[in-house]
Amino acid sequence: MKTLREAVQEAEEKKVAIGHFNISNLEGLWGVFRAAQSLNVPVIIGVSEGERDFMGVRQVKALVDSIQKEYDYPIFLNADHTYSFERVKEVIDAGYDSVIFDGANISFEENVRLAKQCVDYARACGRDVLVEGELGFIGQSSKILDEIPEGVSFDDASLTSPSKAKEFIELTGIDMLAPAVGNVHGMLRGGVDPKLRIDVVKSIKEAVGVPLVLHGGSGNSEEDFKQAIANGVSIVHINTEIRVAYKKGLQLALQENPDEVAPYKFLRQAVKEVQTVAEAKLRMFNNL
Ligand code: 13P
Repeated sequence: MKTLREAVQEAEEKKVAIGHFNISNLEGLWGVFRAAQSLNVPVIIGVSEGERDFMGVRQVKALVDSIQKEYDYPIFLNADHTYSFERVKEVIDAGYDSVIFDGANISFEENVRLAKQCVDYARACGRDVLVEGELGFIGQSSKILDEIPEGVSFDDASLTSPSKAKEFIELTGIDMLAPAVGNVHGMLRGGVDPKLRIDVVKSIKEAVGVPLVLHGGSGNSEEDFKQAIANGVSIVHINTEIRVAYKKGLQLALQENPDEVAPYKFLRQAVKEVQTVAEAKLRMFNNL
């Protein structure tokens, strides 16, 4: 079975991106896995601190492992936005494939100090765990937005600076970088987010070399994804659109069958809607 590091390297070489989808439960996991399986592409399951607390930090790991083994499939588990060293340590100890230390909203110096501590712990753990760092604030919630979140702006000075990114990587040794390139966590009501700054993606990639991870993918266009991937993005994160799909499936099923009380019946539509969205994104990310 290939490791996540190998899968990311392969994506970089092929100029495609691995889809990263957040889940909150087993239905989400089946929806995402079936989408990837139908296209035969690797996939990353993401769980934020809140999502993994809900599922169980070690329980979600056991579920992803069980699919990886039973289907002999490159499905990986990432601890999404993690805000302290203690919580990074927890997921490395639990066997996750990768972790994001999110210091986007703290000072550069503090971000460097904590990201480096996470990298040192990962390197000493005896497994190959990828550590991602974040530079540039893009908001924090995967939800429907009425306006761009406070603290997020798209002027050049607010986007990630290529030279700062280079310095950050040299000081911390992180494996991958999540930059601010016009992306935003969450999705504007109406489903269309501002355009990405492909020129900034390109300059950052040229400066840093390491794989770039595009967060906040909900609401971005296919054309933007293609350009971002061609210019250095190797993983794309989608959460809000997956949440919306899940809720839509659940609402539809309950409306159509208000007397149904068997969860395995009324949750089927939710799995299906998640699968449909994940599959459409995976086609875009993998040039299929
Ligand atoms: P969206 O909710 O905008 O898709 O962002 C997801 C994300 O980046 C999770 O890390």
